[in-house]
Amino acid sequence: MFKPPLPLRLETPTGWAEAALADPEGLLSDHAHCEKKAALTALSLMHAFTGEVRIPLLLARLAEEELNHFRRVLEAMQGFGWSLRPDAGNRYAQGLFEALEKRNGSENRLLDRLLVSALIEARSCERLHKLETASSGHPELGAAPWLAFLFELERCEAGHALAYLRMAEERFGAAVAPRLDLWLDREAGVLAGLPWRSAVH
Ligand SMILES: [Fe+2]
Ligand SMILES: [Fe+2]
Repeated sequence: MFKPPLPLRLETPTGWAEAALADPEGLLSDHAHCEKKAALTALSLMHAFTGEVRIPLLLARLAEEELNHFRRVLEAMQGFGWSLRPDAGNRYAQGLFEALEKRNGSENRLLDRLLVSALIEARSCERLHKLETASSGHPELGAAPWLAFLFELERCEAGHALAYLRMAEERFGAAVAPRLDLWLDREAGVLAGLPWRSAVH
């Protein structure tokens, strides 16, 4: 039985994956952009952890994995004979970023950024699982290597969600639980307001 790495408060309906697979080229193109942005997020968070080395190293590993995913999604697209489309933006991530504590450089903003990153990873994991289940019968995407890749991505994104949560707990201790509670509601609210499209979010 699949369990997302964080206790997400809105389960993606089964029909979502079939709708997302209506345009597999668009889905993968969007996902390539997401992997690239995930790498950039990990790199940009590093600025908040100067003066230490363990968390910057964790973030460097995380960025490396996301860059590896980015390359491999592009390779999968190349294998299908598909092209990278312009980045259409991600209203899900934008909706979450808009709700961040606004003061640049503030500790509350850093806590929010870590929790939002953890939630995006957890939601990616949940949706990759749905795609994995739905694509097993898909005429183009049903090939075994593709499914193995989705499964690997799903496990990695679960690990990233927990890594961001641990970084938050290490820095912010008891302040994390109530803030996560708030963000779990916000995340469900943002997701519920978005139309389904051929994208992970
Ligand atoms: Fe990734
Ligand atoms: Fe990730």
